[in-house]
Amino acid sequence: MSNIEQTLSIIKPDAVERNLSEEIKNEFNKNKFKIVKEKKVKLEKSDAEKFYQVHQSKPFYNDLCSYLSSGPIVVMILEKENAVLENRKLMGATDPSKAEKGTLRKKYGLSIDKNSVHGSDSVDNAKIEIDFFFNE
Ligand code: CMP
Repeated sequence: MSNIEQTLSIIKPDAVERNLSEEIKNEFNKNKFKIVKEKKVKLEKSDAEKFYQVHQSKPFYNDLCSYLSSGPIVVMILEKENAVLENRKLMGATDPSKAEKGTLRKKYGLSIDKNSVHGSDSVDNAKIEIDFFFNE
């Protein structure tokens, strides 16, 4: 049975700044993700705080929100069979130094903060995150 899902992907400020957006979008295409919608936005810190609300209690929350709102980002709705899990596999571990060879974070990530891409971690969160950026 097919299980087409949608997930939210973000190309973070470090990657946009290094002009890697097209290269990263190509990686999604090569891996058979359909980019259903995309836009380039610059968040206010208060938007980033809302987006990363689940991490509110973490020691890195403030820096994380400052970082996500530090420059333009590209947000996309990706669609594929098992898109949530497939995107997480393609991204690799959160910390680029621990990510497997060939993954996006291994290829492009600079550090655990500047790890180039974000992807929803569950189908439920994907719905919430897609709604956050594309509820117009
Ligand atoms: P992301 O998938 O966007 O979700 C939350 C982000 O917090 C994560 O990627 C990392 O870039 C960032 N982060 C910073 N420090 C940590 C940490 N110690 N553990 C997990 N995530 C961290």
